Amino acid sequence: MTIQNTSSAVMSQRRSPPRALDYFPTPPWATRALLEHVNIRAGSGGQGEGMVPWELLTAWEPACGEGHMARVLAERFGKVVASDVFDYGIGASVYDFLGAGGLAAAPPPVERPDFIITNPPFSVGQAFVERALEIATHGVAMLVRTAFLESADRYDLFKTHPPSAVAQFSGRVPMVMGRLDPAASSATAYCWIVWRPPVLKWARDKYGHTGIIAPHLFWIPPDARARLERPGDYPAQAEGGLL
Ligand SMILES: C[S@@+](CC[C@H](N)C(=O)[O-])C[C@H]1O[C@@H](n2cnc3c(N)ncnc32)[C@H](O)[C@@H]1O
Repeated sequence: MTIQNTSSAVMSQRRSPPRALDYFPTPPWATRALLEHVNIRAGSGGQGEGMVPWELLTAWEPACGEGHMARVLAERFGKVVASDVFDYGIGASVYDFLGAGGLAAAPPPVERPDFIITNPPFSVGQAFVERALEIATHGVAMLVRTAFLESADRYDLFKTHPPSAVAQFSGRVPMVMGRLDPAASSATAYCWIVWRPPVLKWARDKYGHTGIIAPHLFWIPPDARARLERPGDYPAQAEGGLL
């Protein structure tokens, strides 16, 4: 489905996912930080053609949960397609992004989106990145724990597919399982990692490898939350409960 701001509908039809699905909703301001601080459209117009306007670009949020990230993406992108393996009752497509199980035969909700942007389940984060890099035509952005950058298991992922940017949050992004809680605290550090499939292809075609790509590492300022939080980001709270 193409996402709209459906927060009140989310409240009334709420369904709880199994714990194994790692449902950690993203505070909306953390997605706005990507759109504001990371130039994800760079190069979208091709050489010398500037950037494609937001309204012409499509983003797929393939692990959308209750749509907290997808709704923010819709503030800029012309079209946002939202799906999840679990039906959270928001009207998003039910689709297994990793193609496992009985949903594998289902057609994807969108064929070749310009961007794939999500907060993947930690346990299958690498598989999400690899799949997204096969599909997105312009960019992949993943909000992950900063610890995702380490581990021998992911060495080959980053060597073969070097990101174009790593945007580290200076402040904490409080995420808790199963609910969006503005009062939550967190001891976990997060960053956005951004890949550009056309740049990876260019390097492979020209040099036979991607070692030429050096990620741009920078920091999202500590005041991001204060600047980017909006009234209505936590709508259910005003009505006595949290999503
Ligand atoms: C960390 S939560 C992110 C939720 C949402 N992106 C947000 O930020 O609010 C991970 C989500 O991945 C979904 N998920 C887990 N495995 C999946 C799969 N194979 N395909 C699609 N979605 C999956 C879960 O249901 C859960 O909603």
